[in-house]
Order: sequence, then structure tokens, then C-alpha cells
Amino acid sequence: MAAHRRTLVIFGAGGDLSTRLLLPGLGQLLAADRGIELELIGASNAELTAEAWKDLLRTAFAKGGADPDATEPVVARSRYVVADVTDADDLRRILGRCETAPVLYFALPPAVTEASCRALDTIELPDGISLALEKPFGTDLASAAALNRLVSRLAPESRVHRVDHFLGKSTVLNLLGLRFANRLFEQSWNAENIEKIEIHYDEKLGLESRAGYYDKAGALVDMIQSHLLLVLALATMEPPSTLDADDLRGAMAQALRATHLWPGEPDQVARRARYTDGTIDGRDLLSYADEEGVDPALETETLAQITLTVDNWRWAGVPIVLRSGKALDDTRKDIVVTFKPVPHLPTGFTSAPSPTLLRIALDPNGIQLDINVNGEGDPFTLETVSLETDLGAGQLDAYGEVLAGILTGDPSISVRADVAEECWRIITPILEAWKKGAVPLDEYPAGSVGPAHWG
Ligand code: BG6
Repeated sequence: MAAHRRTLVIFGAGGDLSTRLLLPGLGQLLAADRGIELELIGASNAELTAEAWKDLLRTAFAKGGADPDATEPVVARSRYVVADVTDADDLRRILGRCETAPVLYFALPPAVTEASCRALDTIELPDGISLALEKPFGTDLASAAALNRLVSRLAPESRVHRVDHFLGKSTVLNLLGLRFANRLFEQSWNAENIEKIEIHYDEKLGLESRAGYYDKAGALVDMIQSHLLLVLALATMEPPSTLDADDLRGAMAQALRATHLWPGEPDQVARRARYTDGTIDGRDLLSYADEEGVDPALETETLAQITLTVDNWRWAGVPIVLRSGKALDDTRKDIVVTFKPVPHLPTGFTSAPSPTLLRIALDPNGIQLDINVNGEGDPFTLETVSLETDLGAGQLDAYGEVLAGILTGDPSISVRADVAEECWRIITPILEAWKKGAVPLDEYPAGSVGPAHWG
């Protein structure tokens, strides 16, 4: 395997994102031996000794389950730099320490990332530099477009990795295999045969002390604007000729360009709600509005549901529902494809058929196909049976997969500039309707399935 020699510089190295998700994923990637020769530099404004940094790495790598034999050489060589990553001199100093083409990973809040990019724009950058930027990418369409213009001055698009870990999830990527390697599905994957598509990501987790970020984002921006719209793109795009970055991302962009809010009044096509106090798995949760750091006047939603249309020949007239929320009873995380009924059911059956359903479970990973069969008793009575299989976890967690793309220079599962902007464009009318108060903010008790009247 050709070796990829890179220096990964993590900005915000000791922070929550880095220690909880990024480094455990990196450890798995190193252990998976995908031909990456890595120098690792941690940078942040927090004082940390070299030994403390190495201990932090060992703990984070162990969390991802990596074999220490595979990660220890990287730990041993790794360095930590105390720096203000929004300061041009500090950035010059960090870049001067990189022996191979650097990847700058911004594990930072968006405002700091932007300030750091502005400082990078004032200095000379080494050849082959790559940038990895975390979500949220901008705070609306205009700011995402401005950030795109800024980063385009720092590195070519093929070396700008807008990270969305959903694109690294093995079940999300499995949509490609399921759709494009089975004639059975792809032939019927259209408005002719499909009634509706639903993409759910309901979580039991509440705010988890993230008010600083979440209270300004809410469920629509936190989950739908990024993650679920990318899942929609993979579920509805045209078959790409190859899975290389241009073909795959081009097909996703084309699907998103055709995506709009389902016609109708805003309160019919976009719903929002916020949790009140309740209990989940024996854990008492305060009302969202009473959580520390929350400004109830912002009316931030913790559950959002929107209906979209993909306006092209394949999908005309098929509603696509995206829903995600927190503090819910269930952890329903799936893509459900409901097929249309047969054009004619032979007269003589003594019961009506149920819709054929394909359910792709995103967590835990699995696939279920519900079909009608003749029942065990009276052969003219139809029954539904489920054909089910569990899909094991992928070799790497989502962050490991995303890092594999970044460190091997493959942007296929990174979000392209235009895709990031399309995702903001799609939700802009909803954000405006919510701001104007055109959609009521419903309530649901934490630990319930959502507002009772949502059905
Ligand atoms: C993150 C959101 O991007 O994705 C969180 O900010 C959410 O609010 C998380 O909980 C869900 O992803 P996963 O992979 O942890 O289920």
C-alpha cells in the first residue's frame, strides 16, 4: 500500500471534540494500517506538558479500542504546542514544525475556526496543505458562502475537508451498496414505485451541557441542515458512474439542488417542539428552557420535522420527511422507504396488503424488509413478514473513516463547498418562518415520543 506521509495538526487538541471523537477515531485508523505515516501535533491555548499530552493521547486512543502497539510510535513522536491559533506568528511557528504536508484540523468553535482561517490568509502556507473544518459550517447561507470564499484562498477544494461524520457511518455509506449493487432496489427506486421516504434520527440524549452551542443551533441546524440532508442526498441521487470524489459529490449536489420545501403553509411542512421536564431511563431531565445556559426567549427547538420534495423526474410527488430530536423515548434512527401498493390486487384475497417497507437502521446497523406473503393459515389471507439482518459495525467508527479520507487525500466523503451551501439554502425558508413565529413551538415531555398531536 502506498504510504501517505502527513502531519496532522489538531487545533483545539485537548478539547471535547478532539478527545471524545477525533482521537479515538484516529487510533482506530492507525491500528487499521491503511498506509498512513503520521506525525501528530496538538495545538491549543491550554498549558499542557509533553507528558500530559502523550497521556491524553494514550487515553483517547484506548477509548477507541486501538491496539497500543499500533499507536505508541505516533504517541512517542507526537508534540504539543501552546499557541493562539488565531495569531499569525503562532501559526507560522506551528507550520514551521511540520516535516510533511500538514493537515490542519480545526476542532474548534466556528467563530475561532474562522478567525484562524483569516490569520492563515495573511501568511505563506506550505505546499500541499489541507484543511479539515468541523460542522457547523457557517451559521446561515451567507456566512457559509463567505467562509467558502475564505478557505478557497487557502487550499484548493480537493484539499478542503468539511467534516460531517454521518458520511463516515458505515450504514449511511451502505446506501451506496444497497442501491447501486442490487437491481431489485435501484429499478424501483423512484416515484413510480415509492410512496414516501422518512429519515429519522431521534435521540435519548438531552442537552448534555452543550447550551453554549445548541441553544443557538437547535435540532434543525444541528441535525437536519447537515447530517440528514446528506443522507437524503445519498438516498435520492442519480447513480454515479464511479464512487470517486467528483462523481459521488456531483451526484449528491445535483440531488440537493433539486430539493425544496414541500409546497404548503410553513406550519404544515415544518414542525418544531421543545422538551419539558421528564424521565428517560430513570434519569430526570429538567425542562430544556430551565437548563443552565439556555435563553428560553430564543425559542430553540429540540425536535424538528420537515417535509421536502426532490423536484426531478425520479422523485416528483414523493414526500421526503426528515425528523430529529432530543430527549425522546425512543432511539429511532433509520431510513424508511414505503413502497406504493400494487396497481391491482387480484380479487379473492380475504385481507388487504400492508405497504412494502424497507427500513435501513442507522444505529444499531441493520436492514429490514417487510413484505406481504400468504399467511400460515388461510392461504388467501395476507400476512406481513419481516426479512431482517443485523449489519455489524464498520471497521472504523465514523470519525476514523472521515480521517482516513482526509489523511489519504481523498475528499469523497468530505462535504463539498456547494453542498454545504445547498444545505443552508434548503432550510432557509424554515428558519425564516420560525423567526417570524409562523410555526408554533410545541412541547413534549422528556422521555415521550414527541408532541401527542404529531401522531
Ligand atoms: C452531532 C450533533 O453532530 O451528532 C449531536 O451535534 C448529535 O447533537 C450527534 O447527538 C449524533 O451523532 P451520533 O453519531 O453521535 O449518533
